[in-house]
Amino acid sequence: MSTTPHDPAAGSEHGDQHLGTDDELITSDTMPEQFLPDGGVESVDVDLAAVHPELADATQVAEIVAPDRTIRAKVGEPLLQMQQVTMKFGGLVALDDVTFDIRRGEILGLIGPNGAGKTTCFNTMTGVYRPTTGQVVFDGRPLGRTKRNEITRLGIARTFQNIRLFSDMTALENVVVGTDARHRTSVPGAIFRSRRHRAEERDALDRGMALLEFVGIGRRATQQARNLPYGDQRRLEIARALATEPKLLCLDEPAAGFNPAEKEDLKALIRKIRDDGYTVLLIEHDMRLVMGVTDRVVVLEFGRKIAEGLPAEVSADPAVIAAYLGVPDDATA
Ligand SMILES: Nc1ncnc2c1ncn2[C@@H]1O[C@H](COP(=O)(O)OP(=O)(O)OP(=O)(O)O)[C@@H](O)[C@H]1O
Ligand SMILES: [Mg+2]
Repeated sequence: MSTTPHDPAAGSEHGDQHLGTDDELITSDTMPEQFLPDGGVESVDVDLAAVHPELADATQVAEIVAPDRTIRAKVGEPLLQMQQVTMKFGGLVALDDVTFDIRRGEILGLIGPNGAGKTTCFNTMTGVYRPTTGQVVFDGRPLGRTKRNEITRLGIARTFQNIRLFSDMTALENVVVGTDARHRTSVPGAIFRSRRHRAEERDALDRGMALLEFVGIGRRATQQARNLPYGDQRRLEIARALATEPKLLCLDEPAAGFNPAEKEDLKALIRKIRDDGYTVLLIEHDMRLVMGVTDRVVVLEFGRKIAEGLPAEVSADPAVIAAYLGVPDDATA
C-alpha cells in the first residue's frame, strides 16, 4: 500500500499505488545524500554489442525478445474482452457497463478526458480491482478472482502513468526483476543454486540485455535507474513490462512529458513491439500520437464507452469531439 497520502491534485493513479512502496520508486527520492552517485562511474555507457555480439543485430534482438512470436501473431480474434464491466468506488461509477475487445496483434488506443476511467480499465484488467459487476476475459479465461501475479503469468503486463522503477537498481536489474515472473525454479532450487536456477539466471540476463537493446537503451544497462534521463526511464519501464513475456502490453500514458521528437521515437517503438508479435493497449492523451499509431480506438467519457472504431472514424465522431472540447451534446447534433 502507499506510504504517502493521496493527493487529489496529483492525478488519478489511485489503484496504481498498490504495487511496491513509494520509497522504491524513482518519483519519491528517499536516498540519503551521501549515497548519491558522484556522477563518475554511474554515467558510463556500455556497449552491449561488445559483450554480446548478437545484440548488434536487430533481427536477433527481436527474436530473443519475442521467441514465440508466430504463435502470438494470429491477428483478429479477441485476446482480452471487457464484458459489461462496471467499477464503483463508493458512490462514484468509474466504469459504467464497459464492453470492448482487444484483438490479438493490434494496437488499441484507449482515450478519453481526465477521469474518464482509462487507468481504472487497466486496473480491472490487471487484477488491482475486481469489477463490481461484469467480467474481464483474457485469452478465453474469465479472470474472476485471479491474483495479480497470476495475471502477469497469464500474460498481461503494464506500465504506469507515474513511472515506477526500482530507483537504486541498474537498468539491467530492473528488467531482470521482470523476468522473474517467469521463473520456474523452486525456492530450494534458488537457495542451493541448482543448475536450472543458474541457467534461468543466465537466460534472464541475456534476455534483459536484449530487451534494453530492443527499447533503445542498451548502453544504459549498468546505470542506476534514478540516473537515467526521463525518456530512458519510460523506455526502461516498457522493457521491464516486456520482460514478463506478456501477450498483452498495456501502456498508461507512455508519452507523458515527451517532446515531439521523443513522441515520434515512441511511436516507432510501439509499432516495433506490435510487429514483434505483442498486442498493445495504449492510453494516451496526445491525439496525434494516438491517431498515428493505433489500429482502433475506444473512447471513454465519465466511465462510459462513447465511441469505438478506426482512428479516422473516431476522430470525426461528434460525441468524441464534444467530449474533448466540452461542447454540450445538443450543440453538435
Ligand atoms: N481507488 C479509487 N477510489 C476512488 N475513486 C477512484 C479510484 N480510482 C479511480 N477513481 C475515480 O474514478 C474515476 C476514473 O479515474 P481514472 O484514473 O480511471 O481516470 P483516467 O481516465 O485514467 O484519468 P487521467 O486521464 O486523469 O489519468 C475518477 O473520477 C477517479 O477519481
Ligand atoms: Mg489515468
